[in-house]
Amino acid sequence: MSDKSRRQLLDILALAPVIPVITIEDASHAVPLARALVAGGLPTIEITLRTAAAMEAARAIMAEVPQAVVGIGTVLTPGDLERACTLGAAFAVSPGVTADLLTAAAICELPFAPGIQTASDLITCVTHGFDIVKFFPAVPAGGLPALNALSGPFPQVRYCPTGGIGAANAVEWLAHPKVAAVGGSWVAPTPDITSAAWPAIEQRARAAAALRSRAPTAHQ
Ligand code: 3PG
Repeated sequence: MSDKSRRQLLDILALAPVIPVITIEDASHAVPLARALVAGGLPTIEITLRTAAAMEAARAIMAEVPQAVVGIGTVLTPGDLERACTLGAAFAVSPGVTADLLTAAAICELPFAPGIQTASDLITCVTHGFDIVKFFPAVPAGGLPALNALSGPFPQVRYCPTGGIGAANAVEWLAHPKVAAVGGSWVAPTPDITSAAWPAIEQRARAAAALRSRAPTAHQ
């Protein structure tokens, strides 16, 4: 990843402590959802490519909610990454890592956080120049003890842990000096999106936005 994309990714992760991970079934929900998240103080939003509506939802938010910083998640192939680039997404996230994905991310210069779970995954990432990663699935893959262990051989790596993180444990993750931000679906779970429960989502966003990360930013 270029220095510019790396700095952009760190800046994006510094915007808010929590990145809501969104699975959206109906693109017409995208704009009110993004407005609720932004109003609650969480402008950085990951739209997962898990539904047919995902790209249209991301496009609508980018067009109508300029305060939102839209990333594409569940990027599995170089083709997914190219779609995110073409869309003009601010960043992309994958649940795992392949050399093909890292090569594609470097070519399109999109700020990209590949998913890691093991030391082998981290070797793949750092040898391709990617040292800001998604730790996924963070809790099932060993939680903070696993993150501490991985930090030994890879002291330069910064993490966005996702998977099993919620209101009850986010603060512990954010207290870790290598954690730049956390991701999770708890702020805007799909049933709340489907039922247009915007006030409840905004309230959870506000609580999440009040949490803080201790990780150094691009400028420190
Ligand atoms: C992800 O897609 O990044 C995770 O599935 C979100 O995990 P969570 O639902 O446990 O927050």
